[in-house]
Amino acid sequence: MHVLVAGGAGYIGSHVALELQNAGHEVSVFDNLSTGMRSNLQKGMRLYVGDLNDRRRLEKAFVRRPDAVIHLAAAKAVGESMENPEKYSRNNLMGTLSLLEAMTNAGCSQLVFSSTAAVYGEPRYTPVDEAHALDPQSYYGFTKLEIERILAWYDRLKGIKYAVLRYFNAAGYDPEGRILGKERNPQNLLPRVLEVAAGLSPQVSVFGNDFPTQDGSGVRDYVHVTDLARAHLLSLEKIASTRQSLTVNLGSETGISVLEILEAARRVTGRAIPAQITGRRAGDPAVVVADAALAKKTLGWIPRYSDPETLLSTAWKVYKPN
Ligand code: WQD
Repeated sequence: MHVLVAGGAGYIGSHVALELQNAGHEVSVFDNLSTGMRSNLQKGMRLYVGDLNDRRRLEKAFVRRPDAVIHLAAAKAVGESMENPEKYSRNNLMGTLSLLEAMTNAGCSQLVFSSTAAVYGEPRYTPVDEAHALDPQSYYGFTKLEIERILAWYDRLKGIKYAVLRYFNAAGYDPEGRILGKERNPQNLLPRVLEVAAGLSPQVSVFGNDFPTQDGSGVRDYVHVTDLARAHLLSLEKIASTRQSLTVNLGSETGISVLEILEAARRVTGRAIPAQITGRRAGDPAVVVADAALAKKTLGWIPRYSDPETLLSTAWKVYKPN
């Protein structure tokens, strides 16, 4: 298959592009390089530099008639989306509408969409399955949910078959070290911990130790980006063979606390990693853990790299100073 990966130069997208290429697919990447990096791409991948809202550039990426699109081109910072919702309307909502129109015009009818656990909002129960109420608590999560709903209409009206993949906390790097791009100004826990381990930042702030969890710190479901990438490949094959749309959670189904991550990071890196308990971050739930039974059943997906040691050691190869 020829697959167009929108956002394929970014952190998750570049791992998806690599997985597709390894499986023998032809890969084109469309990316505005706002956060993505050319250096994340592998030899043999075609790059179209452009923004989804730039219709002329986007149409060029469809000239070679991709059979399917994987769409990860979006802004993804929860806090920023509350301060600057316009950016999220433009990038996520308008960008996706533009992409759907380009797909429709080009007769491309298969799409894998990168969604998020943020569509559920504060969990009412855990583990969170796909039947859980959809109640995003950030504008970012809202944009992803709106796109999911738009996709259901495009399926009905235009015959676009889609896989919506709701990622929990993506982390780790390609175990073979072929992707080395560090995210700029990371907000997520693992890159922050590893920046401290690498001496790039003085200490980790632990956002709260008074949650009702095993050790008081926040519990999340960390899933390795290579496991996520594999799920994209399986989803593509699934929608191509069944011509049926699907929506699934992608998570390791294991809850790890912030303090457990810190401890594992000290073991893996051999560095002290100073940390300080600070107040809770606004809007942070105590526990977010996936029920990923549906992905396992529907796609035959099995996470292989999502234990804390592998998450941290594959990322440490990228963060470790030479
Ligand atoms: C993880 C845990 C923090 C940083 C968000 C989005 C989600 C997805 C991933 C985009 C929490 C704690 C963090 C730090 C800390 N985003 N923490 N110190 O908030 O679970 O998920 O990012 O698609 O949709 O909601 O991820 O990595 O920010 O935090 O103590 O410096 O680490 O409180 O418990 P989060 P995170």
